[in-house]
Amino acid sequence: MDGKKLAGEKAVESVKDGMILGLGTGSTVYWSILKLGELVKKGLDIKGVPTSKSTEKLAKELGIPLVSFSSINQIDLTIDGADEVNPNFELIKGGGGALLREKMVASISKSSIIVIDETKYVPNLGEFPLPVEIVQFGWEVTSKQISTLGCKPELRTKNNSPFVTDNGNYIFDCYFEKIDDAVKLNTRLNMIPGVVENGLFVHLADTIVVGKRDSSVDIL
Ligand code: 5RP
Repeated sequence: MDGKKLAGEKAVESVKDGMILGLGTGSTVYWSILKLGELVKKGLDIKGVPTSKSTEKLAKELGIPLVSFSSINQIDLTIDGADEVNPNFELIKGGGGALLREKMVASISKSSIIVIDETKYVPNLGEFPLPVEIVQFGWEVTSKQISTLGCKPELRTKNNSPFVTDNGNYIFDCYFEKIDDAVKLNTRLNMIPGVVENGLFVHLADTIVVGKRDSSVDIL
């Protein structure tokens, strides 16, 4: 069975009536959102906070009640995907381009469940290029500054044009040999003028749900 579906659906077992839920973005949390839609139809009383326009659209189609990020101070539980997870529960996120809103939502969540298939649980971060959201102004200069941290930044494109995030920014996919110190790199990246946010999530995941090829699920 698909590891993404297994993990996505399993995480929903932690959802309780009355919760405000952060709704992540991507093809793994898609399964969580689908399951939540089914449960809402059966009477589950939750409110969702979407992390992207695509998740907002999906949640609305499924009839999941939403609440705006601006109107709340805290989220009970967030369920989201990731591109890589290491044994310290440090993550690379942003493959789907939603890292800024995802990090904002995670930062006010009491608890956060990350749903992945087993290919994404890795000993060291960095094989997946690290997404970094940057302002459009002077992106060429920002690229040079980011590269001094030991990576090769590539401007993400879509249909031969720069990919633009829900927030109107660009994304660099940054190729590092290996990321040894995610805490330090997270801080150093965010200190570069022009960088809005980066896809390293440190101290933002409480539980990792891993869907496996043999149809079992590990809860870490
Ligand atoms: C989007 C993300 C996604 O959660 C991440 O890219 C994983 O996506 P998928 O579940 O489709 O593999 O961070 O910005």
